[in-house]
Amino acid sequence: MTQKRIFSGIQSTGIPTLGSFLGAISNWEKLSAEYDCLFCVVDLHAITVRQNPETLRKYGREMLAWLIALGLNPEKNILYYQSHVPAHAELSWLLNCFAYMGELNRMTQFKVKSAKNEENINVGLYSYPVLQAADILLYRADLVPVGEDQRQHIELCRDIAGRFNKIYGDIFTIPEAYIPPVGAKIMSLQNPTEKMSKSDENVNSCVYLSDSPDAIIKKFKRAVTDSDNTVKFSQEKPGISNLLTIYACMTGKKIADCEAEFADAGYGAFKQAVGEAVAQNLAPYRDEHARIMSDIGELDAIAAKGAKKAAESAAETLAKVKKAIGFVV
Ligand code: TYM
Repeated sequence: MTQKRIFSGIQSTGIPTLGSFLGAISNWEKLSAEYDCLFCVVDLHAITVRQNPETLRKYGREMLAWLIALGLNPEKNILYYQSHVPAHAELSWLLNCFAYMGELNRMTQFKVKSAKNEENINVGLYSYPVLQAADILLYRADLVPVGEDQRQHIELCRDIAGRFNKIYGDIFTIPEAYIPPVGAKIMSLQNPTEKMSKSDENVNSCVYLSDSPDAIIKKFKRAVTDSDNTVKFSQEKPGISNLLTIYACMTGKKIADCEAEFADAGYGAFKQAVGEAVAQNLAPYRDEHARIMSDIGELDAIAAKGAKKAAESAAETLAKVKKAIGFVV
């Protein structure tokens, strides 16, 4: 039997955060032992919000270097930039003709992002989930490891694939989302009812993987909590619950055990412990990232190799799709 396949992607819109690490990339690394994997820096998705060209290029390379630094071995996994494989854009167009505006209108992320970018609600932002469906379906992925915020997009991808298959036969693999039981939605440290996001303007909201250990500990010390002073996981305590989730992910302990560990501690000591656990865990990755970034030639070679392999696999699906639709082949 052939190995099952994983596809996942991350936008090159900034430095990855603790949220993208815990919600997605750390699981990519764990699952990569059992699956045949493609991990893509989705730079086509990134331009749905206006980007400075130099910054986009810089973040693109940095993101690829982070994926490698976080343990995704480029010899075992296909790592590449979305813009290097034109089949993504081509399948996206084809799938646009199988996605309904009613479906896209319901996408939460489109509503949130268009509210934030009122002056640039472009068509790309609207059809973003169709490009995402193309990413996944091109490679016949079985599993898509993502954070909670991507659940709706994966559902839509399944619906589009199912609709296409109903018309043309068994062309696409219907993928499953893999959303981790703990850590699927890491919240902002300053506003714990909102997702931690790499595009947040308040740097204290967010732990970036590039942050120094000192900066990380300071950010946790400043994290917004509540006035109750008991370390308990509950809906009424979003700040403390978020910190407990982070601590549990970082130490591999159960939430209940983390609560017990800090039963007699005040918030100050708890925040310090969470900050130290995060700082300690992330430090080796930061060093490895710096090492990888010191050889851009090698990084670009990895991307070129990845794109070649990805393009070969994508071409097979695209040929099947075009034939099924009825284009002259
Ligand atoms: P992006 O770049 O916003 O985030 C990359 C991955 O990180 C997860 N994530 C989080 N998980 C938990 N807590 C958080 N605070 C947090 N922030 C980010 C995201 O859920 C995601 O899994 N549309 C996607 C990229 C994409 C993609 C794809 C993903 C494009 N094509 C195909 C999977 C398959 C996005 O914007 O991710």
